[in-house]
Amino acid sequence: PTPMRVLGIETSCDETGVAVYDGQAGLLAHRVYSQADSHARYGGVVPEIASRDHIRKLLPLLDETLQASATERLALGGVAYTRGPGLAGALLVGAALARSLAYALGIPALGIHHMEAHLLAPMLEEPPPRFPFLALLVSGGHTMLVQVAGVGRYRLLGESLDDAAGEAFDKVAKLLGLDYPGGPALEQLAKQGDPDRFRFPRPMTNRPGLDFSFSGLKTYTLNTLRGAAEFDDQIRADTARAFQDAVIDTLYLKCRRALRQTGAKRLVVAGGVSANRKLRERLAQLARTSGARIYYPRIEFCTDNAAMVAYAGWLRLSAGEHDSLAFDVTARWPL
Ligand code: KG4
Ligand code: ZN
Repeated sequence: PTPMRVLGIETSCDETGVAVYDGQAGLLAHRVYSQADSHARYGGVVPEIASRDHIRKLLPLLDETLQASATERLALGGVAYTRGPGLAGALLVGAALARSLAYALGIPALGIHHMEAHLLAPMLEEPPPRFPFLALLVSGGHTMLVQVAGVGRYRLLGESLDDAAGEAFDKVAKLLGLDYPGGPALEQLAKQGDPDRFRFPRPMTNRPGLDFSFSGLKTYTLNTLRGAAEFDDQIRADTARAFQDAVIDTLYLKCRRALRQTGAKRLVVAGGVSANRKLRERLAQLARTSGARIYYPRIEFCTDNAAMVAYAGWLRLSAGEHDSLAFDVTARWPL
């Protein structure tokens, strides 16, 4: 590995992240500031507020991270930032800082695909997954099954045709009266739920293919709540449980199918929803029955962070990639 030390910056949505990854010593430090409280009262992310919060937080976080990693600015060999997909204004904040810093220091900068960063995040753990592997990416913006042959060698096998898995968690959480971001809160509520009271469909599992569709579960939730005599704590918990079981079972079935189709021996699961304990328990069954080994990021690197951006950036920058001074962001960007 090349010893290059890389600064990573993440500002694609509502987390401001900064990290330093060193080719020899590994991850040296990382910081994440979550804007969740700024957006909670609006029930979702407000793009304008996200951009302003990134501007406010980014330099203080940078200072903190450089200090925590005992990194002099001049020791940096490159800067990686999330180029997209994400909110254009939020992305521009990180891109502008990264590009300016690289310019001032006379070092290369590189824009990273946010989902590639998620996909490579489990490689920060011990043992890291070896290539090739199959990847299930489940975040707030995307749900994808990807066949991965190496860095930058990705084949999309399936994706969500409507809502992403995390988005479905957030929307259903809202229907259940939970605060944004709803995924973790819904997981907690579901613990009190009776698994046998309702059974929700497993969308698109009865026909061949590896695509997903989660928006129907939202309607299903709404109809279940409307059909109930009372909107009490028990029906909320039972509905949360039925919804979560349906999403997890759907992800399980599609992973099983993809493992069979590709013959992959390793499955990487990453993105915000991969923090869900019930999902991890269910996929552990798949590991036992299929013989495939499953790799996750540590819980804090499931959701958005800059450690994964610094790492992906290090892989590509140390291979000689970089972008030009006329940088840009890409709000919509296929993997
Ligand atoms: O990867 P991420 O931080 O941001 C995107 O790239 O979109 O994912 C955030 C998503 C949110 O929808 C959030 O509700 C969901 O991940 N999430 C969870 C859990 N933790 C985060 N969903 C279900 N269970 C969780 N424990
Ligand atoms: Zn993300």
